[in-house]
Amino acid sequence: MSTRRILATAALPYANGPIHLGHLVEYLQTDIWVRFQRLRGNRCLYICADDTHGTAIMIRARAEGRREEEVIAESQAAHQRDFAGFGIEFDNYGSTNSSETQAHCNEIWKTIRDAGLVKEKDVEQLFDVEQGTFLADRFVSGTCPSCKTADQPGDNCSHCGATYSPAELIDPKSTLSGSTPEVRSARHLFIELEQLHRFLAEWTQSGNALQPEVANYLKGHFLGDANSAEGKKDLRDWDISRPAPYFGFEIPDAPGNYWYVWFDAPIGYIGSTQQWCDANNENLDDWWKSDQTEIHHFIGKDITYFHTLFWPGILKTAGFSLPTRVQVHGFLKVDGEKMSKSKGTFIKAETYLKYLDPNALRYFYASKLGNGLDDIDLNLEEFTAKINSDLVGKVVNLASRSAKFLAATGLSEAYPDDGGLFQQGADAGEAIAEAYETCDYNKAMRLIMELADRANPFVENAAPWTLKKDPEKAQQLQDICSIAINLFRQIVVYLTPVLPELAEKMGQLLGEPIREWSQSQSPLTGTPVAKFKHMMKRIEDKGIQKMVDETKAEAEAVVAAASQAALASQFSDSDQPLKDEPMSDECTIDDFVKVDLRVARIVSAEHVEEARKLLKLTLSLGGSETRQVFAGIKAAYDPDQLVGRLVVMVANLKPRKMKFGLSEGMVCASGPGGEEVFLLSPDDGAKPGQRVH
Ligand code: MSP
Ligand code: ZN
Repeated sequence: MSTRRILATAALPYANGPIHLGHLVEYLQTDIWVRFQRLRGNRCLYICADDTHGTAIMIRARAEGRREEEVIAESQAAHQRDFAGFGIEFDNYGSTNSSETQAHCNEIWKTIRDAGLVKEKDVEQLFDVEQGTFLADRFVSGTCPSCKTADQPGDNCSHCGATYSPAELIDPKSTLSGSTPEVRSARHLFIELEQLHRFLAEWTQSGNALQPEVANYLKGHFLGDANSAEGKKDLRDWDISRPAPYFGFEIPDAPGNYWYVWFDAPIGYIGSTQQWCDANNENLDDWWKSDQTEIHHFIGKDITYFHTLFWPGILKTAGFSLPTRVQVHGFLKVDGEKMSKSKGTFIKAETYLKYLDPNALRYFYASKLGNGLDDIDLNLEEFTAKINSDLVGKVVNLASRSAKFLAATGLSEAYPDDGGLFQQGADAGEAIAEAYETCDYNKAMRLIMELADRANPFVENAAPWTLKKDPEKAQQLQDICSIAINLFRQIVVYLTPVLPELAEKMGQLLGEPIREWSQSQSPLTGTPVAKFKHMMKRIEDKGIQKMVDETKAEAEAVVAAASQAALASQFSDSDQPLKDEPMSDECTIDDFVKVDLRVARIVSAEHVEEARKLLKLTLSLGGSETRQVFAGIKAAYDPDQLVGRLVVMVANLKPRKMKFGLSEGMVCASGPGGEEVFLLSPDDGAKPGQRVH
């Protein structure tokens, strides 16, 4: 069989949020497929990147007072850490905000212009005057024009289901600033997708690139029947530009306009491949413009339209290869329902990794994923039961019950008679491979577990732990355990794409790493067996409970912070002071009590000759205890107004010798300085000398 050359991608996750268990369905599905291809001897690249552009990132960066580049760099590091935590290995993990992606956008854009696919139209959109930005639909809310329900989002009503444009809302408000936006018109660039109708109808409706249900969905909703005049539907023009301000790439021949994030996102696949090529001395065209290379995109069903209509249209126009396959998967549910923050089921990758074994999720998803678009359900009880019974109970148990008896002798010199078990397992190899190849992992796992279901009773009946007791039966013991270990090894070879860590541990046990699928076809004989080390733990309910609790608590903290922010917003206090001087590092109560703050009365205040900013204050701490303090408040306070008032002072500050005399403390005040200085004063009733806690 000749070696295939394959480029596989998973969709580029938005830089705007953390990786959660829903995302992992896809990144694991792809990782398993890629590892399978390599085990079969094919060359397969796994390419991905962060999807960084768009309004959401821009708004977040503004809110946090940071540059977008800083926000996306932080996200990318977190994403890569999470993926690595689940054993997901990319050949290149790039960013759409890269010079490579930009260069390919420019080049591809030119071909689209040259093909006459671009046209201009005026678009009316709501504009937030305070924030100085056009508002994407989700940043507008208002009263539904149909049923008059208040607080509805900018695109459709959650009460009556009506769809509308944000400009049609009654009393629209910007969710960014709370202000009333105005309707403004701007020129946008559109790609006239309908010009590619024939090609797209042909590409989507014939060949093997799409699952049948995807092809039918496209025909039913967007393309219609291309062969009959009445049946044909027109593809809508695709609005691919946004006026400034927008975080993205500026369109070279339309200054002041930026590509809409979904234009450059898939080109990020090419940009990230380019980075890999540059680092590995390879030629991009060998991967993206060669009929010797297969391209497989793995995506979720929500982004089907972009990958099966826009993207092939762009690739075709720009002279790149079309996808060999767009593999679409369904959505993750947890305990039968959409992931929900309040129920504690919107679980972040990071949270899972704190409490549970990543290999368990790899196996569980594999056992659930078919090659269709059905949603997959993470039922937490089923998860625990499956891992404990399949992986720990059936698979690892084969080794843990027999390996220890081989530590002294190694495997039998010749493979003993096992009644045909190993051969049956070898014969199942092609069916298992076919199931992996077609992304029917659920079937692959079923076939593999059938092997474990036959191997376990064999060991059970032969009972090596009893043979062990009889020195006469040493040979029989070695043979039985050699069979058990070989059946275990065969199963683990088949599971290698799903459980690379288990394969690695087995490789160490038997002194032979797993590198090829064909290792499942012949048994190992006469080789040493290392000391058995633990391979996989049972899932404990308390790990699951902690993960769910932490997820819930986080969601509650977010809700609490939002309601506190809503309370604070009534007072419209600016966030500028805190931005100007960010909060210091945390200190302990011990640190705090070192500073002795006291109520003090100003008993005299006078100008100091030749000091431009200072007033000389005499402070009384009660009785005859007084302090002399020089305070930089001359521009803000008239000495006469100060005499008699109470202030807060730092009473145990080490005295400091100044040009004008000794300063024995500090009075507390806020403000940037100059005329804007505000002394702290205690409420009525406070007495000089009292400590401030
Ligand atoms: N940035 C776009 C993709 C651009 S590709 C050129 C995007 N990002 S995403 O972060 O929202 O989703 C990334 C992938 O994860 C998508 O394929 C999406 O379908 C998948 N999933 C996101 N949530 C999911 C579930 N709850 N369940 C299964 N897959 C999910 O879309
Ligand atoms: Zn409504």
